[in-house]
Amino acid sequence: MLLHIPNVLSAEDVAGFRRALDAADWADGRETVGHQGAQVKRNQQLPDASPLKAELGQHVLAALERNPLFFAAALPLRILPPRFNRYTGGGEYGFHVDGSVMSVGHGQQRTHIRSDISCTLFLCEPEEYEGGELVISDTYGEHEVKLPAGDLIVYPSSSLHKVQPVTHGARLASFFWVQSLVRDDAHRRLLWEMDMSIQQLTADVPQHPSLVSLTGIYHNLLRQWAET
Ligand code: NI
Repeated sequence: MLLHIPNVLSAEDVAGFRRALDAADWADGRETVGHQGAQVKRNQQLPDASPLKAELGQHVLAALERNPLFFAAALPLRILPPRFNRYTGGGEYGFHVDGSVMSVGHGQQRTHIRSDISCTLFLCEPEEYEGGELVISDTYGEHEVKLPAGDLIVYPSSSLHKVQPVTHGARLASFFWVQSLVRDDAHRRLLWEMDMSIQQLTADVPQHPSLVSLTGIYHNLLRQWAET
């Protein structure tokens, strides 16, 4: 499921992120990918050890926490610490599939997170740069995504995707992965559609007796499919 979630960050949040990121030390993005990714990736990232990455990442996680649409769509079990990237001067990232299992932490604290959902949070307005579309390829064809600053796109990590060359200006974004309670994208989509329908019905016909049974069915499906 490809889903656009608007206004995850407010305009003030975005302005604060931009001030901090404009003054940041960026590293070569190839440091954090495998051999195959390194051949097609040309961008910059905040280094893993960067205190700014940790600080802004906490802000992103707090914003996600407040966002009911993100929760309903992703049904998150674990979220990898958000990362930040910058494309400029023709930078791009050719077609690839994201790694399936990511490790986080060190030593005794080291855990693994399965990437079910990939997320990109846009931090620049579309008119600030040329190119830089996120292109996601699925069974329905290719979808080009270029969202307003503060908006988020979520899509299955299993899909082939790329970032088009940024030929003018700079494209800043945060990106991260989610391990969902519900592993299967088709199951997540059914739950999402059912959740949205129940909410619509609740708004339109609040006393409808079937609401109780529909809500029960939602939870019983989630119980069938959830892995914790
Ligand atoms: Ni990717």
